[in-house]
This record gives sequence, structure tokens and C-alpha cells, in this order.
Amino acid sequence: MNELKDKKILIGVTGGIAAYKVVEVVSRLKKLGAEVKVVMTRSATEFIAPRTFQEITKNPVSVEMFSETVNYHVEHIALANFADLVLIAPATANFLAKAAHGIADDLLTTIILATPAPLMIAPAMNTLMLEHPATKNNIEILKQRGAKIIDAETGLLACGTSGKGRLAEPENICAEIVKFFAPKNLAGKKILVTAGGTVEPIDPVRFIGNRSSGKMGYEIAKAAQFHGAEVILISGNATVEPPANVKFIKVETAEQMRTEVLKEFDSVDAVIMSAAVSDYRPKTIYPQKIKKSNENLTIELVKNPDILKELGQLKKNQLLVGFAAETANIISYAKDKIDEKNLDFIVANDVTQEGAGFSVDTNIASIITRDGEIENCPKMSKTELAEKIILRVAERL
Ligand code: PMT
Repeated sequence: MNELKDKKILIGVTGGIAAYKVVEVVSRLKKLGAEVKVVMTRSATEFIAPRTFQEITKNPVSVEMFSETVNYHVEHIALANFADLVLIAPATANFLAKAAHGIADDLLTTIILATPAPLMIAPAMNTLMLEHPATKNNIEILKQRGAKIIDAETGLLACGTSGKGRLAEPENICAEIVKFFAPKNLAGKKILVTAGGTVEPIDPVRFIGNRSSGKMGYEIAKAAQFHGAEVILISGNATVEPPANVKFIKVETAEQMRTEVLKEFDSVDAVIMSAAVSDYRPKTIYPQKIKKSNENLTIELVKNPDILKELGQLKKNQLLVGFAAETANIISYAKDKIDEKNLDFIVANDVTQEGAGFSVDTNIASIITRDGEIENCPKMSKTELAEKIILRVAERL
């Protein structure tokens, strides 16, 4: 998705070792469609060359307030007015102090005073510097003034110590920016998404599972978040990384998924069950690895709870969306599931089709509503299908 198409982002890089990580931030923002310009403080250029940012942004990088070569007419005002959003990353203690108190003694701090654009700040420094009352106070002042602080993370620091102070990961910084620009038609709504495949143990090393990669559900979680919802993602086995900034709950079995879903159900506005839940589980879980002995081995299976059906019985105002993984009679089986599980709509995918269903990046589906309306979605990326599903959810909520 081009989530940041036509968005203009000004990035202020100040003098910290984490400056190199901002190269990835810029690269990700460009891929998302943003136009990016970079302003560096003089100290930042001690850590990374302006040319690096110039090459990836395809824009000149500004450093000096009074320079022989001027990139823009009345540079600080031009850059201040360019931005839809100003991001400072990494933000040093020195920058935070100057910005909090309105000191404008270089190009970047002057732009901060001149810009009408909202400010996002990602601090990075030694733990003691971050936790110093002066820095804490400066962060508080900036927060009060409306700046969004992207908290530093905990880990190994460049100074050799371990603690809070690492620049937030580029992925998380970009997720915050995407969230900032996202259409907010699900603001104030809480959405529960299930994804991935459940795993039913046979013995300590073997299990019954399925080929779900989690891709479909994780894209739905991302789309819901993009539209401003608070997202809970309950996931079985998956091969992809969960999105940043969702409440992520990892489960293994259908029973565990049921428990976690029921814990959250009362507080959510919608549930989208894209998880591939095992219908059966072994009656007995062998405590030891089963030894090869007889020619045949029979494992007795017992039925798992049907989570979605149970939600259909419990539901009050929640919107319920199911998936149907079918291999024949797609539409009629899917319609039966709408009635059987008391759903608002269902997304039916023929998992035998190439480019649809399990593991692949694309899907082919029909969205079928309770009143019989059918939208056929030809082969498209799971990202695009997720957007369609979420737009329907938003419409109904
Ligand atoms: O994860 P990916 O690799 O991206 O693959 C995506 C997918 C193929 C898993 C997804 O598109 C999909 O079809 N998910 C539903 C799989 C499934 O279990 O379908 P079903 O027809 O068996 O179940 C119908 C509905 O009831 C589903 O919403 C399912 O989550 C739910 N269910 C099923 C069984 C059970 N015991 N409890 C349930 O809640």
C-alpha cells in the first residue's frame, strides 16, 4: 500500500550514534510513498554523511543556517512550510533541551520554532542522560505542547551499558508515522483479529497443524490499525512478524485461542476470525515421544470447540466476521456458515485455487453478507483484501 502517498515529511537528524538507523527510516518512508527531506545538525554529520540522505531522499540535505550554498529561498521557512510532519530522530538530550525552551541557534532548532507542522520526536541517548530530571522535564514540556514522543527502547547501548535509550526500531517509528496519517474511520473502535493456525499436540514433538502462515490475519490487523482502531491480534502458528503496536497474544491450541478470545470478547466492537482453527485434537497427549512399534498407529481425535459459533451465540452488539476455507460449493457452504455461526458477513476463499488461501501472498475471495449480497474479489494481495474487509467493518460500525 502507498499509505504515505503525497505526504511530506521533514526529518531532523541530531548528533547521536543512532543516526545511521535513520537511513532505514527514510528508506521505508520512501517505499510507503512519502516525499522526505532531511535537515542535519552539525554534530549529526560527525556520525553520518549528508550525502547518504541526499542519495536516498533525492533531495538536498540542509545543515547550516548561514551557508554559501542555499538549497531553498529563506531556507528555514521554506523547510518549515514544506512539512506535513516533522520527525526528529535520533533526538539528543541537547536537542530536547533546546526545543523545549525555544532556543533557535541552528537551522534545525529554528525550523522547529517556525513550522506549523506537528512534531514527532524519537529520543536516543545513554540511560542516565534519558532519565536525568532535566531531560525528563524537557520531554514533558514537549509532550504538553503536543509533540508525540516515540519512546526509546531498552537494550545494549553504544556506550557499552545496557538500559533504556536505544532509538526505537525503524519499523516502529514508521508504524507511528503511518498511524498518524491514517484515515481515522475506526477511531475509538476495538477490533479483535485471529490469525495463523492452531497446533494440537500429539506427543512432546509432534502435532496436528495446518499451512496457515498468518499473512491474511496479520494484514487485517494492520489495516484495522491503519484506520485508527485499537487492535488485539490473537495468533496461532505464523511465519510472519506481528505488526507493531497491536496487543499481540500468541496461542497454540484451539482451546487456548478460545480462552483468549473469550477474555477479550466483551470489550470489542468487532471480531474477525481468519485463524485456521483445528476442528479436532488428539484425545490423549502422550507424555513421551510415541515409539515406532506396530505397523499402524491410530490416534483418536475429539472435537475442538467452535470458537466462532460460540461467539455467535454470545454476541450482543459485536460485529462478527468469519472466514470460510472451502474446496467445493464455496458460496453455499459459506452461506450455511453465516447462519450456523450467526455472522454479519463471511469471507469465503477457495483454497484449492492457485494464488488463494494458505501461505501465499495473494487471495481470491467472495465477501458474502448476511442479507445475501456477494462481492467477488479477484486475485489480489492479502493487503488489498484486508483493506476491503476493514472498509466493510468500518461502514457497519
Ligand atoms: O494464514 P494464511 O496463510 O494467510 O491463510 C489464510 C487462510 C486460508 C487461513 C484464511 O484465508 C482462512 O480461510 N481462514 C479460515 C480457515 C478456517 O478455519 O476455515 P473454516 O471454514 O474451517 O472455519 C470457518 C470459520 O470458523 C473461520 O472463521 C474459523 O476461524 C472459525 N472456526 C473454525 C473452527 C473452529 N473450531 N473454531 C472456529 O472459530
